[in-house]
Amino acid sequence: MKAFNVGLIGMGTVGAGVARILLEKKSPLLEKLDCVPVLKGIADSNPEVKSKLNLPSEILFTTDGQQLLNNPDIQVIVELIGGVHPAKEIITAALEKGKDVVTANKMLLALHGSELFRKARQHGKSISFEASVGGGIPIIAALRDGFIANRIESICGIVNGTTNYILTKMTKEQVTYSDALAEAQKLGYAEKDPTMDVEGIDSSHKLAILARIGFGTDFDYARIYHEGIRSVDLSDIWYAHELGYTLKLLAIAKKDNDTIELRVHPALLPHDHPLSSVQGVFNAICITGSAVGEAMLYGKGAGQMPTASAVVADLVDVALGRAGITFSAMKTFSRGSERFAIADVLQFKTCYYLRFSVVDKPGVLAKISGILGKYEISIASVIQHKAKENGNVPLVMMTHRAEEGNLQKALAEIQQLDTIKDDTKFLRVEEE
Ligand code: HSE
Repeated sequence: MKAFNVGLIGMGTVGAGVARILLEKKSPLLEKLDCVPVLKGIADSNPEVKSKLNLPSEILFTTDGQQLLNNPDIQVIVELIGGVHPAKEIITAALEKGKDVVTANKMLLALHGSELFRKARQHGKSISFEASVGGGIPIIAALRDGFIANRIESICGIVNGTTNYILTKMTKEQVTYSDALAEAQKLGYAEKDPTMDVEGIDSSHKLAILARIGFGTDFDYARIYHEGIRSVDLSDIWYAHELGYTLKLLAIAKKDNDTIELRVHPALLPHDHPLSSVQGVFNAICITGSAVGEAMLYGKGAGQMPTASAVVADLVDVALGRAGITFSAMKTFSRGSERFAIADVLQFKTCYYLRFSVVDKPGVLAKISGILGKYEISIASVIQHKAKENGNVPLVMMTHRAEEGNLQKALAEIQQLDTIKDDTKFLRVEEE
């Protein structure tokens, strides 16, 4: 049995899960492989972590990551600190010292992935990052290897469990956003400061990684449009439901000729769309490829052991030499070329859900539909409820596919009508 020595930096929840798998006496790795990753050392800035771990004496514990980086016996560094600094410096140092790297750090890869990949190639080493997207779901391997024969046409997924939990709770139990968030925080799904999740930033980091691999292209992370779920109103979930749609926070990368739309936002999906049935903290990603057609991967997108499962899969890839071969052979990791233009938000093309708050009198609908028609926006269905909100009635419309720039112009003009009260709410709809 050959051993491949691992140094683990950052001993939080996922790190403890990785250690648990690597230290298991009857590990499935030992049953399946002739060459296994072996935990050699752990670094964490908090010295109290050691007492909680109950580590075998042969495993080095240090509060100084440099000790692992400088240890010639360690062949691969697992970075599980998260954030940009000092994770970036640690990964850079590991590569410069001739070590392969495994990381779950989606923010770092979204923001500085190309630079780090170049560094890895310069030193003939690899960076593996299966755990950065979708927790235990092997989505990176699927996109990179399993779907290699395909031109990827679209990637559309629920890649954030916290927001999916909140939206599921709002939909099923008809509780407000604030109450659903408070429950998610109580259960430990949402952080005390939930900004990264609820503003769609975490999803956009993951989308950056998926889109770069799927489309074999590079782009500036800032080009990803993102919008979160803070302003999702319970009434829109009800009206959408009545019209046959479920509201989800989606991460979408879609190719249209030489342009790619990269967007994260709340969106309506038909009830029978496979992503509509993804509940609670689960994640799922739909891929459309030129040969495979449609495929969906589903599973736990976060949590200690699912994420540790992905980290250990990467460690095995490194130990078997597969990570190095993949890294040196795939153009995705070397060229960083921008092969496609990134669509501006005004170029997005979707169907829309619109909710106007109007005075209930003759001619209002005709005026609104007239302005929408002027901007080439065709109405697919309309519902009006009797329920009055401050003396006004909600008028809900679904449109056919239209360019967002046209919708913005139409809504600005409609807002000037004296029969329109309050701001108009709009949500994008994914029909395909
Ligand atoms: N905060 C993320 C989520 C998990 O809620 O899905 C880590 O990527």
